[in-house]
Amino acid sequence: MPTGARTVSEPKSENIVWHQGQITHQDRTRVLGHAGCTLWLTGLSGSGKSTVAVALEHILIQNGHLAYRLDGDNVRHGLNNNLGFSADDRQENIRRVGEVSKLFADAGVITISSFISPYQSDRDQVRKIHEDAGLKFLEVFVNTPIEICESRDPKGLYKKARAGEIKGFTGIDDPYETPTSPEIDLKTDELTPDQSAQRLIEHLQSAGIVCR
Ligand code: ADX
Repeated sequence: MPTGARTVSEPKSENIVWHQGQITHQDRTRVLGHAGCTLWLTGLSGSGKSTVAVALEHILIQNGHLAYRLDGDNVRHGLNNNLGFSADDRQENIRRVGEVSKLFADAGVITISSFISPYQSDRDQVRKIHEDAGLKFLEVFVNTPIEICESRDPKGLYKKARAGEIKGFTGIDDPYETPTSPEIDLKTDELTPDQSAQRLIEHLQSAGIVCR
């Protein structure tokens, strides 16, 4: 478990005051034709999170919806380029991208966040900040057995981890806590990426976010 304090969303100084605007989430929903939300894809490295996210983003944009991907490897090139893979750094990674996801969702974007996010408590915290803000949060378990992830090994990282060249690799010598009650359990070894994306579209439809 990470050791960092869990005082997320609390400003450091007491002299920070929330400044209310005039525009509501509903106003933005009217402009865009759909509410914002976050689809949170969690799973092992190589499970297919990014591939499914790319397919989903493509379908949503083609259907005229505003969607945007936040991806672990990509965000670690910028906003989170000062974070590594210790439990505390992973916790801070998820705290920051959770807050960014919430802002995007509030802005009306269908936000597709794909991060290993190995700790249930961190994922629960991201859910909480969305729900406290009245925003829909769907946890998607990209459920691919480690044997398959390891056989795919798209970046050669499992091989390095097995050889001891990477320490603390998720699923090898670092934990992954399986989601306890995800909204969606995607068994990607039984589905193509497009089929997985289609499942997610169906969930967005039943959640009333999109109708096509
Ligand atoms: S998380 O654990 O903090 O949520 P994140 O999703 O941002 O991870 O980044 C995971 C990506 O970093 C993996 O897809 C993989 O390419 C790369 N990576 C590098 N080192 C590690 C490691 N020790 N454990 C897991 N992934 C790693």
